[in-house]
Amino acid sequence: MDIEIQRIDGALFGARIFGVEPSALPDDATAADVLRRAAIEHHGTLVFEFGRMLEVGELNALTRVFGENEFAPGLITGYGKGKVDGEEDLTIEEQVVRLEQQGIDPYLLFLGNVHPRTGERIEITEKFFGDWEWHTDMSYIPNPPTFTLLHSRQIPTEGGDTGFCSQVLAARTLPTELRRQLEGRRIKHDSTYSSNGSLRVGMTEPATPIDAIGTYHPILRRLPGTEHEALFLGRRTNGYVEDLPLEESEALLDALWAHATKDEFTYRHEWRCGQVVVWDNRLVMHCRYPVDPSETRFMWRTQTVGEEVVASSA
Ligand SMILES: [Fe+2]
Repeated sequence: MDIEIQRIDGALFGARIFGVEPSALPDDATAADVLRRAAIEHHGTLVFEFGRMLEVGELNALTRVFGENEFAPGLITGYGKGKVDGEEDLTIEEQVVRLEQQGIDPYLLFLGNVHPRTGERIEITEKFFGDWEWHTDMSYIPNPPTFTLLHSRQIPTEGGDTGFCSQVLAARTLPTELRRQLEGRRIKHDSTYSSNGSLRVGMTEPATPIDAIGTYHPILRRLPGTEHEALFLGRRTNGYVEDLPLEESEALLDALWAHATKDEFTYRHEWRCGQVVVWDNRLVMHCRYPVDPSETRFMWRTQTVGEEVVASSA
């Protein structure tokens, strides 16, 4: 495989990848190694330029380069609605069987306003096409998925860009005083709301962030086997710094978020059809800019199995 890797123009991180043949990946250990090393070097943000629609098996093969394929989010969290309407009480195994009976791959999540089987336009709530704030996918569970992949099938004429924000750069440039304040501390990552700000099914609004249901993770993490250290903030809504009075927690989080999402740490991706963007949730946060609901947008999403968050000594 003749893989070409180019830095993304105008961004301090990220790379465009040309020449990958996804169906050949399972048998090409060298190519897989090149891609994994590129991911580390470019802060976990790779844009694959395929210029065509991938088959499900091809996207799963590309996903497998970066880790073990994980079931789609609704299946593994139990939060909110999975892909099987009205069947929320089914076990993961039962949901997988049901999805496969319907001809739906259990690793794929469909995002957008196109029916995955008929290809027809479907109505979605306006909120679903609004702003999705900066976040790390599923950071509210103990072992959040490591890599996420998005494959563009249909894109709007404008809008719907995905933003990426290097938390490696954010950690590297932390002001000394801020670094001192977060030393040894953890943030609780709230599970109440989805990325578009909707209350998840079965959840209620907590009285304060201290009462929110979620998982504590170290604020500063490191990637074992690499030189990377990264901030790990999750999402701002209902975030809480462990053991601090609420006011102090809010002030520290505000300062951290203002630093972590500075323009110079970000790359805004304008989609073309037939791309796959892979990102490492340990190294970047992402956001989605709004889409006009009269437009059509349809993406396939996969992810890899997560791992424990390793604290970095500040
Ligand atoms: Fe996301």
